Amino acid sequence: MNPIQVGLLGIGTVGSGTFQVLRRNQEEIKRRAGRGIEITMVADLDTARAQAVVGEGVQVVADARAVIANPEIDIVVELIGGYGIAKQLVLEAIAAGKHVVTANKALLAVHGTEIFAAAHAKGVMVAFEAAVAGGIPIIKALREGLTANSIQWIAGIINGTTNFILSEMRDKGLDFDTVLKEAQRLGYAEADPTFDIEGVDAAHKVTLMSAIAFGIPVQFDRAHIEGITKLAAQDIKYAEQLGYRIKLLGVTKRVAKGIELRVHPSLVPSKRLLANVEGAMNAVVVNGDAVGTTLYYGKGAGSEPTASAVIADLVDITRLHTADAAHRVPHLAFHPDAMSDLKVLPMAEVVTSYYLRLRVADEAGVLAKVTGLLAGAGISIDAVLQREADEVGGEGSTQTDLIILTHDTREGTLDDALAQLQALPTVLAPIVRIRKEELS
Ligand code: HSE
Repeated sequence: MNPIQVGLLGIGTVGSGTFQVLRRNQEEIKRRAGRGIEITMVADLDTARAQAVVGEGVQVVADARAVIANPEIDIVVELIGGYGIAKQLVLEAIAAGKHVVTANKALLAVHGTEIFAAAHAKGVMVAFEAAVAGGIPIIKALREGLTANSIQWIAGIINGTTNFILSEMRDKGLDFDTVLKEAQRLGYAEADPTFDIEGVDAAHKVTLMSAIAFGIPVQFDRAHIEGITKLAAQDIKYAEQLGYRIKLLGVTKRVAKGIELRVHPSLVPSKRLLANVEGAMNAVVVNGDAVGTTLYYGKGAGSEPTASAVIADLVDITRLHTADAAHRVPHLAFHPDAMSDLKVLPMAEVVTSYYLRLRVADEAGVLAKVTGLLAGAGISIDAVLQREADEVGGEGSTQTDLIILTHDTREGTLDDALAQLQALPTVLAPIVRIRKEELS
């Protein structure tokens, strides 16, 4: 059988890796896929650089639409990124009857409903293993490997840049800004790292996992998103003293009232494997009712790790593209006519536990007042740590830090209690609140 023909839209880091791995492992990939897979056309604005990557045997063009219009191309791989032209090209490729592989989490998290509907109507596949956690086959695991389960929750470190920054802050006791500059120098963080450090990239990824896990439409606009820019080195140190590490987690949970969908810094017990995922690595924990807790770990970015996921999708499509469309694995794991209308809950309805840090006047009765107020709100305290005033504010200091760990409580209840605590004259600075996930 003739090889299946692939056209790449964009040949940067991931595109180059895809070309190289496909060429290096072509024989084994062919034995797995049942037929060869060849990149025969590439579109990139920098045609000279693209031609240098792929050599003379591959047609290179500047116009992506020339790839989509080529009747010989079976699969279009979109590696442009973003919501703009990438969206138009993906929709045009679908309309032209091409299968699509994309690493574009932003596009699918925001416009997935429209794109998957178009693909379903046209009977083509849109595959996106590379969109979540790079080389870790988490989409495959959720959509197929765990298909027997009622998934209960997912918690993941799904942004390597922020995990690198948090690891360095903890290891070296440095502040956020210093480590961000280092991450940019090393090439981990983009020149504009906003999506990474503000939690948006992680929210795109957890939105996709949530849809697949619970059979709900992608709802990025309902996700709660907090990044790591306001995290103080001091809180990383206090958390460590209490037996926790702070990670930027993407969390999605099935609870009685609906679905939680959130990204924020979280305290994770140091003894959990997830707490020990360091540097730019990614890891995802999935809990299913039958399987229990499972963990997936690996490189979440980079040329060949991401290419590994892109090529896995190319092989899947090659195996399935002659199959009756109704017998393929549904894009979001559940059949489009069997999606759930479980609603994504507002943060006030989320139930979790908390780390609180209060800068207080170091005087009699302050601790009693704070704990009394929490008790009055029905918030149960798990642990309290009070620092020496001298250690916090220098010799002779009249201020100290009070660190409180709570048991599970409703976020709306905590918000009300925090407003009351903040109004106390003995609370001298904005209260720091970081959520805590026991992951048990
Ligand atoms: N910028 C992402 C990260 C990689 O830092 O993990 C691509 O998703």
